[in-house]
Amino acid sequence: MFLPHCLVLLSLITTTFSINPGVKVELTEKGLEYGRQLAIASIQQKLKSIKVPDMSGKERISPIGKVQYSLTNMHIVNAGLPKSAVDLVPGTGVRLSITNAFITMNGRWRVKYLRIIKDSGSFDLSVNGLSISTSIAISSDETGRPMVSSVNCAANVGEVTIKFHGGASWLYNLFRKYIEKALRGAMEKQICPLVTDAVSDLNIRLKTLNVLAKVDEYAEIEYSMVSSPTISNSAIVLNLKGEFYNIGKHQEPPFSATTFSMQSQTNNMLSVGISAFTANSAAFVYNAAGMLSLYITDDMIPKSSLFHLNTKSFSVFIPQLEKQFPNMTMKLLVKTVKNPVITFEPDNATIQALCSVTAYAIQPNATLSPLFVLNLESSVSARVFVSGMKLAGEITLNEMNLTLATSYVGEFKVKSLDNIFQMVLKVVILPKLNALLAKGYPLPTIEAMKLENTKLLVLKDFVLIGTDVQFIG
Ligand SMILES: *[C@@H]1O[C@H](CO)[C@@H](O)[C@H](O)[C@H]1NC(C)=O
Ligand SMILES: *[C@@H]1O[C@H](CO)[C@@H](O)[C@H](O)[C@H]1NC(C)=O
Ligand SMILES: *[C@@H]1O[C@H](CO)[C@@H](O)[C@H](O)[C@H]1NC(C)=O
Ligand SMILES: *[C@@H]1O[C@H](CO)[C@@H](O)[C@H](O)[C@H]1NC(C)=O
Repeated sequence: MFLPHCLVLLSLITTTFSINPGVKVELTEKGLEYGRQLAIASIQQKLKSIKVPDMSGKERISPIGKVQYSLTNMHIVNAGLPKSAVDLVPGTGVRLSITNAFITMNGRWRVKYLRIIKDSGSFDLSVNGLSISTSIAISSDETGRPMVSSVNCAANVGEVTIKFHGGASWLYNLFRKYIEKALRGAMEKQICPLVTDAVSDLNIRLKTLNVLAKVDEYAEIEYSMVSSPTISNSAIVLNLKGEFYNIGKHQEPPFSATTFSMQSQTNNMLSVGISAFTANSAAFVYNAAGMLSLYITDDMIPKSSLFHLNTKSFSVFIPQLEKQFPNMTMKLLVKTVKNPVITFEPDNATIQALCSVTAYAIQPNATLSPLFVLNLESSVSARVFVSGMKLAGEITLNEMNLTLATSYVGEFKVKSLDNIFQMVLKVVILPKLNALLAKGYPLPTIEAMKLENTKLLVLKDFVLIGTDVQFIG
């Protein structure tokens, strides 16, 4: 009895404390393949730095007697990694296996025997059938950035062949076994540390993930990992917080991220899923910061408009205005009364907002006299797109409803103001919002990363960006 209760309790605790990601970044097999190419290029470079120490010694060889030899100046001419594979290891990370790798070197040999005879020459050397395998574990560092580390590395040198130039053939047999032994030792000792280095070099890149991406002077987006990466046999998924915050003041909104599952796609290297939660956290931040309010004055209305923000224009619909507030310009204060709500449905991103519109007459002494307050419910459609390394949008009006909240000027037909407010929305408010939305919101990125072949789909509860990446420089 006791144990099941405990388990229920435990599962409640873990679900309460685990945070759902607002943004997921999936590295597909195609992405992994690009990663393999980068890793191999880096390992190849590192292999060229292998040092084989000089060797010298004395050997007694019959019938000559004592032979002094030295092998010096051994250096790598080329290293090739023609065959490698990277496989996902569900739950842990990836395994990188390199086979048939080769390294070619050359060096100088020198001998002295029978007291006076000296001889020297060069040699070429090749190490073939070199195999290296390592597991790469993926975890999160203390800043919430992904981190990789090489574990269980093994290197095995296949065959070593040596070609001597100059000297007598009996000498070759003398050197061969020393060179081969020393070489195996040097290689097997140095390769894994170099591979480990190459893998941890990736962390230099990963450390540039914008875990706190500044949007503007009010907002930033947190992109730190909220849990360990999910590694399946087809992809690696990083679970990022994906939440907008007021800069410096990380207040949680009264809603939280829900789970969303990103169906694996294989055409692109990366998939980035941005949930409705992320978009709604932006709405929360801007609303809480008082950013979603705007004074509209007559100078914002196009000169060519037949309608203007003054009591004369409005008195067509509210005749009493002309008597109570003759010949006065007006001013509107539009502000959201609650968080706008953003919803993603297949091929449809919609924002619903409830605003209050307060209309004022401006008295000759500049005092504002409130005339009426309207509730403006509006629904806009958003086109969402990727621009550079940012997600941007553009909205158009679907519909709006006006209702009267308060009137200070007696009765009037609110419906008759519909056209005026449609016009105000379309020519003043939406262009202002679109100018902001066009600036875009930073996507999770790492330094020197460029997006290519990017496409975007609006799906149920999230936006899916499929993209390839290139690292420049
Ligand atoms: C309306 O006000 C403007 C200045 O605010 C003034 O120039 C104009 O004469 C006034 N018109 C009437 C009909 O009072
Ligand atoms: C999108 O959905 C909203 C309601 O959620 C609807 O009013 C609008 O017409 C839809 N747009 C399209 C293009 O389907
Ligand atoms: C401005 O004018 C209005 C109407 O004439 C008056 O009620 C109000 O007291 C005046 N305010 C100031 C600050 O003079
Ligand atoms: C406007 O009102 C109609 C009818 O009450 C309602 O169906 C519609 O959802 C409202 N639209 C908005 C944007 O609130």
